[in-house]
Amino acid sequence: MKLVIFGPPSAGKGTQAQKLAQRYGIPQVATGDLLRKAVAEKTPLGLKVKEYLDKGKLGPDDLIVKVISERVSKPDCKKGYILDGFPRTMGQAKALDKMTEVDLVMNIVVDLDELVERAVGRRTCLKCGAVYHVKFNPPMNEGICENCGLKLIQRDDDKEDTVRNRLKVYHEQTAPLIEYYRQKGKLVDIVGGGGIEVVFAQMVKAISQIKQRASPGHGGL
Ligand code: AP5
Repeated sequence: MKLVIFGPPSAGKGTQAQKLAQRYGIPQVATGDLLRKAVAEKTPLGLKVKEYLDKGKLGPDDLIVKVISERVSKPDCKKGYILDGFPRTMGQAKALDKMTEVDLVMNIVVDLDELVERAVGRRTCLKCGAVYHVKFNPPMNEGICENCGLKLIQRDDDKEDTVRNRLKVYHEQTAPLIEYYRQKGKLVDIVGGGGIEVVFAQMVKAISQIKQRASPGHGGL
């Protein structure tokens, strides 16, 4: 099963991708997490992309496509994966078409003001990638990751100015992909304004519908 979680910055892609990964036993492949890890470890990739992340701009397509194609060719992706934050440009979408056929693109739709509030209040664990929110999804112990016990951080690109820039970049370069996948019959809209569990339930329903359509006799997923 190959899923794409699509949506603007802070729509809840990472939150839902982690829950889906747990439920379906396939890995979350999050470009943002892979790039932030590379930056933190100061790898050659990290040095190349740091400036893009800091400014809330998209990294170059060739670099990002290479990162993703290497990641999805690892053994844990054999049964499928959940792409979170990829593709984000038409060039990336075309590259993905060459790599594989995705089963479903879930487009999370959230109001602009809520997106900004979600980003500014987000707290992240740099070790395990768990995502919390000071108001909407606080950890049991304030500021501490429930999985690792480490101190949570606020991402550098979650400052309000950078968030607004990321939203602008999303509308210019990423939003056109909605129509691309809709025309292919792959896209389902998910109402992202409800609570985390309400959004999750919509996704599980959409996935069970495509699983039913592809049930034995039709090839299966
Ligand atoms: P990336 O890390 O992918 O950032 P993003 O797309 O901006 O997405 P976010 O991580 O901000 O949000 P999310 O949708 O995952 O929301 P989350 O679940 O955390 O990318 C960062 C940067 O990397 C980019 O700016 C770019 O520079 C580069 N990059 C990445 N991919 C690239 C690509 N393909 N090409 C080029 N460059 C690329 O939730 C947000 C908050 O809301 C959390 O606090 C959460 O607890 C809360 N929340 C979640 N769901 C709900 C809900 N239903 N109700 C209330 N609160 C909620």
